[in-house]
Amino acid sequence: MALDKPYQDIPGTIIFDAEQARKGYHLNQFSMSFMKPENRERYLADREAYVNEWPLTDAQKKAVLDMDLNAMMAEGGNIYFLSKIGATHGLSFQQMAGSMTGMSEAAYRDMMVSGGRRPEGVRLKDLDGWTPPEPGEKAETMRPNAPARVTSTLYTPHVPAIGAAMDLGKTEEPYWQKVFSGYEWTRAWAKENTPDVVILVYNDHATAFDSSLIPTFVLGTGAEYPVADEGYGPRPVPGIKGYPELASHIAQSVIQDDFDLTLVNEMVVDHGLTVPLSLVFGDVGVDGEWPCRVIPLAVNVVQYPVPSGRRCYELGKAIRRALDKWDGPELNVQVWSTGGMSHQLQGPRAGLINAEWDNAFLDHLIADPEGLTEWPHLEYVDEAGSEGIELVDWLIARGTMDDQFGGGAPTVDHRFYHVPASNTAVGHMVLSNPTD
Ligand code: DHB
Ligand code: FE
Repeated sequence: MALDKPYQDIPGTIIFDAEQARKGYHLNQFSMSFMKPENRERYLADREAYVNEWPLTDAQKKAVLDMDLNAMMAEGGNIYFLSKIGATHGLSFQQMAGSMTGMSEAAYRDMMVSGGRRPEGVRLKDLDGWTPPEPGEKAETMRPNAPARVTSTLYTPHVPAIGAAMDLGKTEEPYWQKVFSGYEWTRAWAKENTPDVVILVYNDHATAFDSSLIPTFVLGTGAEYPVADEGYGPRPVPGIKGYPELASHIAQSVIQDDFDLTLVNEMVVDHGLTVPLSLVFGDVGVDGEWPCRVIPLAVNVVQYPVPSGRRCYELGKAIRRALDKWDGPELNVQVWSTGGMSHQLQGPRAGLINAEWDNAFLDHLIADPEGLTEWPHLEYVDEAGSEGIELVDWLIARGTMDDQFGGGAPTVDHRFYHVPASNTAVGHMVLSNPTD
């Protein structure tokens, strides 16, 4: 089920999309290095030596050394990035563009002066057999036997003190024993049901993103993500291995599904992402490896306005549509949403816990996710504390499940509730899609 990419058939044109960006990542970053004069000087002094400093493919290196912009574009380059190479060679944008047409510099300039290239004959619609693409359809039913199967969704808080309790060997203390007892089932289950990839929904806590950049939804399309130092030193756990091919596929589909994702290839990940991995997979030392790949999905709940529950649920549905379109290798996919439950980390109301509300939230998440999308932010904050707003993230995982696409209701494999872990109510759940 190919993604909708009719633009790739436009004659003489390469559209820079998530797939191209993945292919050309190092080439484009290489191009950006020419924004520094010292790099331009080093490159011009010995081009081959400079090119060899970068992890480019042989085809990319050849394209650069040949100064062949068409070949660079074919290898994933984008003209705005590549123009920094052209500028280093003293070329104008007109010279760069002209060099890709097979025309002489003078002939190209004359063509432009005479009104430019006419569109007739170089449009997709002029090709034989072209029919206009249907406006983007949004599937409301699931793909039977999809290669990428959402098997389960998992919900858990990500309290940093839980990570610290593991890192400092305190899990046997009575206070922590009560928290970890709720994850014994999950750890055994995770050993039997290790996914190929987890799409891990969390919120960044002013770690990778601060006041300089406040993206609402961030999808990690990178290959790896180091563990952040949040002020206590990095947690002694391994960094995260991403899944660029699947993540860029999801990005392509979800953005075409009207979600304006921010795509990030390089970022550090904080307790919001690492603590859930530790809770579910247990102790994994800094020299070890997590047992699966992870695609981070960070949601802004730090600075208002934050996305609504409805928007998060719709994003979950868009992610499921993307997974259903995957034609790569068969994948066992789990979607985890983290944060919550009730907690307030600030002001005279700090320490607020609302067990009745939390459990009503869980009941609705199981049986009435659509109804839950109507609950406004004020409800979360008023009832579950200012940081309880993290719970909107839980609707993303729930939106990916079969029953939201005409399939069977999930089984509630595990449900746990305990107060407290640090300042937070620990609500933890595993829901699975019917197996047939
Ligand atoms: C706590 C909980 C959080 O979700 C968080 O991000 C930071 C701290 C806490 O309970 O201490
Ligand atoms: Fe948090």
